[in-house]
Amino acid sequence: MPLQVDDIQGIILYGYGHLRHACFLLLGISEPSATRAWLKTLDVLSGRFNREEVDRCLNIAFTSGGLRRLGLSDDLMTEFSTEFREGMGATPHRQRILGDSDESSPDNWRWGGPGTPEPHVLLMLYARNEIALSELLSEQQSRFATAGLTPLAQLETTWLPQEKEHFGFRDGLSTTGIEGFHNNTSPANTIAAGEFVLGYLNAYGQYTQRPLVDQSRDPIGLLPHAPEDSTRGDLGMNGSYLVFRQLSQDVTSFWRYCDEQTRQRDGASNAAARTRLAAKMVGRWPGGAPLVKSPEKDDPAFSGENDFLYHAEGDVHGLKCPIGAHIRRTNPRDSLEPDPGSDRSIEVGKRHRVIRRGRAYGAPVVSSMDAADVLAAGDRAGERGRHFLCFNTHIGRQFEFIQHTWVNNPGFDGLYDDDDPLIGDRGGSYGKTAGTFTIQADPVRTRVTGMPRFVQVRGGAYFFMPGIRALRFLGSL
Ligand code: HEM
Repeated sequence: MPLQVDDIQGIILYGYGHLRHACFLLLGISEPSATRAWLKTLDVLSGRFNREEVDRCLNIAFTSGGLRRLGLSDDLMTEFSTEFREGMGATPHRQRILGDSDESSPDNWRWGGPGTPEPHVLLMLYARNEIALSELLSEQQSRFATAGLTPLAQLETTWLPQEKEHFGFRDGLSTTGIEGFHNNTSPANTIAAGEFVLGYLNAYGQYTQRPLVDQSRDPIGLLPHAPEDSTRGDLGMNGSYLVFRQLSQDVTSFWRYCDEQTRQRDGASNAAARTRLAAKMVGRWPGGAPLVKSPEKDDPAFSGENDFLYHAEGDVHGLKCPIGAHIRRTNPRDSLEPDPGSDRSIEVGKRHRVIRRGRAYGAPVVSSMDAADVLAAGDRAGERGRHFLCFNTHIGRQFEFIQHTWVNNPGFDGLYDDDDPLIGDRGGSYGKTAGTFTIQADPVRTRVTGMPRFVQVRGGAYFFMPGIRALRFLGSL
């Protein structure tokens, strides 16, 4: 079945690279009837738009508390996924799964944790320039009081120089495509629509569970029909779950660590070795070239490359791209059991993919994004990091699986004491102190140890981003 692009919110299908100014608003619903009326009039962008014509736009998502507050009945709520209903920061079990311990514990979160007011609505604002964004923001803010909404937090974003993230690596290169819709991704990176949009077949050839509604509850037929049961309205169809984690990055500590580990005998820094270690940790060079394609240097010819595998490139043992590098852990491509290197291995990987839509926040330590300048700048005040956002239809099998079974797992793919060097929790979820990173080499591997946690969680929540017809249905509850 082709995607119903007009009914899917645009940010699920596109990253809005032309709308580089964005801000995210967390809102509480104080008067549900006023909020429902507001929802009916809200102009959200669908996936069918012309880049040249769209200078600003809105998208919207809800926490499970938000849907309840809008008046969704308990029996429909139970048909949403357990992870979504429980929430990201709500249980010790989920905290363990995600590795949110110590400084990153939900108790310390600025939003989404037990000690802060529960956000109900996430309003996402995007614009082509600063002026358009501030106009859009003021227009929206002026409606909050009549819409029965209480602002809880305003999360700003930054578009960093050279399309990089704060550590200084190009980001947004490994894109995930939707089968039958995105035609610019390689077959290994093109995944069944139902992995990212509810109401379509997923990687198992099945429909992921979501709330279906009897006709009596949708008398005027606002909702699309469920594909597997045309007598029922589909509240999930054309919607997706949005994982939102505010992750702060300690850029200075990252580069200091890489610098210290690669000093020469006389104590002098070795810039080339420092960059090489950092690239081994990421799996790509700062300019973007994947190590498996260009193991020795940051070759601009490969900077946007995403059509690669590991076993098929002959890198079975991680001699080019370490087994535990960030991009190899978060998408092992053809490295998975059973039968690594085969199509079967790639198929298994396709059950654990997400579509990333994050944005950076905070000023860069240095605008050159260069490690030597970061080190020379010393400690810079202010927080910086990434609003990590991703879409999936099964939070447990996709985002949480990546985070728990790959990112934080010391036993990932034959390793025994490492976690993700970039974003790992250093033992929080497995109760074991990690902080080791292994660089496979012939004849002997090298290991760096005592790696601190460079990324901390400052807030987060699971949201449901409904289809546009479902949004009108929620407004009519
Ligand atoms: C501050 C936190 C993070 C930073 C700085 C970061 C950085 C990066 C960088 C530099 C890349 C390579 C560029 C690209 O391939 O597009 C990348 C890729 C990726 N990251 Fe992250 N990341 C962060 C958090 C996360 C989290 C929390 C997850 C999921 C649990 C994640 C999943 C991925 C995935 C799936 C890829 C693409 C891998 C591939 O397909 O080859 N990242 N990240």
